[in-house]
Amino acid sequence: MSALSAVIVAAGSGTRMGSAISKQYLPLGDKPILAHALEAFQRCEAVRAIVLVVGADDVERGRCLVLEHRIDKCTAVVAGGADRQQSVHAGLRALDRETEWVMVHDGVRPFVTVELIERLWAAVRQCEAAVLAVPVKDTVKLVDSAGWIEATPDRSRLWAIQTPQAFRLDVLLAAHEAALRDGFRGTDDAVLVERIGRRVRIVEGEYTNIKITTPDDLAWGSFWLKGRQKP
Ligand code: C5P
Repeated sequence: MSALSAVIVAAGSGTRMGSAISKQYLPLGDKPILAHALEAFQRCEAVRAIVLVVGADDVERGRCLVLEHRIDKCTAVVAGGADRQQSVHAGLRALDRETEWVMVHDGVRPFVTVELIERLWAAVRQCEAAVLAVPVKDTVKLVDSAGWIEATPDRSRLWAIQTPQAFRLDVLLAAHEAALRDGFRGTDDAVLVERIGRRVRIVEGEYTNIKITTPDDLAWGSFWLKGRQKP
């Protein structure tokens, strides 16, 4: 029996959305964005516990959301930190002792599905670290601060990384602690594991598993949800 828990981070303030309310609490269809993400992990049988990380002022609000949407696998709602990495670390520290494997997911990715979680879970058990990703469709350029192109990486080798990202808990904890010690800040968890010399596997995800960042994403998300709900 391999004990899998999920850490869902939702402690960001979402300045790029331009709304007074943090984006994870904005409605998408009939419920907040964050509730969609929580429900996918709640429904997935492989997941036995969920830790929700919210802003320091939102702990009560997070608890209410968990109750209202019957996320009964949620074992803790904890306050996050100043950046995503600190929030994930706070979530990892709140996991129970039985946890052997962890999936870290952004609370602003509401279109994650049970099928995607299961696909990632099947893959990570064959290694120790795996992340969902999709092949990049656009040509990507490396650009200097003055706006001049410096390099054009080979597109056939580029993948856009998503969450959830899955790890053996001991590996991810070691990676976070090394990053903290070295003052390293990464934009995802995989990079912390890569920099301690461990290998991370790519698992092909879905283009629809978007991160809601700007108002355009929310408009697209509402449109997509309506289409999905049609008989
Ligand atoms: O910053 P970004 O848009 O990449 O955020 C990805 C996820 O990290 C979001 O779900 C956001 O709520 C979370 N986050 C967090 N704590 C922070 C900053 C972001 O939990 N301090």
